[in-house]
Amino acid sequence: DKAGYKHFMAKEIAEQPVVLADALRHYTRSGALNLPDGLDFTGIERITMVACGTAYYACLVAKYWFEQIARLPVEVDVASEFRYREPPIPGGTASLFVSQSGETADTLAALRYCRDKADRVWSLVNVPTSSIAREADLALPILAGVEVSVASTKAFTNQLLLLALMALKAASQRGHLDAAGLAQALDDMRRLPGLMNQVLTNEARIERLGDRLAEAQDVLFLGRGALYPLALEGALKLKELSYIHAEGYASGELKHGPIALIDRNVPVVVFAPHDGLFEKTVSNMQEVMARHGQVILVTDPEGARLAQEGTAATLILPEAPSLLAPILYAVPAQLLAYHTAVAKGTDVDQPRNLAKSVTVE
Ligand code: M6R
Repeated sequence: DKAGYKHFMAKEIAEQPVVLADALRHYTRSGALNLPDGLDFTGIERITMVACGTAYYACLVAKYWFEQIARLPVEVDVASEFRYREPPIPGGTASLFVSQSGETADTLAALRYCRDKADRVWSLVNVPTSSIAREADLALPILAGVEVSVASTKAFTNQLLLLALMALKAASQRGHLDAAGLAQALDDMRRLPGLMNQVLTNEARIERLGDRLAEAQDVLFLGRGALYPLALEGALKLKELSYIHAEGYASGELKHGPIALIDRNVPVVVFAPHDGLFEKTVSNMQEVMARHGQVILVTDPEGARLAQEGTAATLILPEAPSLLAPILYAVPAQLLAYHTAVAKGTDVDQPRNLAKSVTVE
């Protein structure tokens, strides 16, 4: 049931503030974490995360979080590569498998590879009865509710929420975060649903940008730090829904090749909250503008004040705590792809050649 929305994808994008708040309530209790005891980082020296597609990008964001706040090294791999590479799994490794459906064949095979090798085998799933949930030592449901649209939206933001909570637990257990710091981080998280709602109420502006992107042949997405995986996710969403060629790059990689693609016909979406990396990203953005690329800057009020001059469009999101920016910036990435697809008249919920659950390798 689309509940009055034109597509399941639109409904699932709009549900994000509610399902995120639900999961946050479930996994916290009176200012503290309420994660299962089995999620124990004692003796763990590294985490290997394995997933496909959008779930893989969630893991890439998590790598920044775990390494920055828990000082725990994280390796992230796409399941189809991991499973055949015969990677060594040294003692002290926790392995984590992230999958909305819990049935992705490559991710399941990667989990089976780690079963008798890793110290811990954990999974993050949306379907608690799935194979990837059943075969892990511990499965954490992301509680996003049924996701029908082939393009993953609310599962992605709830995966990110759970990964952020896990990183906070690791940071606390490893002595890098005290009770006050944890309480502050959880307070920040409780603001997220409201911030997401603010982005959703500005949807009309994103719809107009989608109309413009629908004319493009190629679109680039740029980001730095934890926003780099968001550039990858923005490009994947646009490709799968609108069939427009799109690529995501780490901003700093631009001058190592991709900048050759820029001309006045190429829209470049730049995710740049006003954080510690802002000036670096803006200088890459200016290199794009100097080559007449059409920059769509996605930032916050301070970022817009400092850098909107010369952009083709600037989308202003509310200011977000820096840890949580990737979760908030997912919403405009999804809406841009959605409205571009609607403008092009493609089959939004069931794009050509794709299946919701990829149970063959
Ligand atoms: O069910 P899973 O999370 O394991 O699926 C992984 C990918 O197939 C999935 O995220 C895919 O990339 C989506 N269509 C992206 O929107």
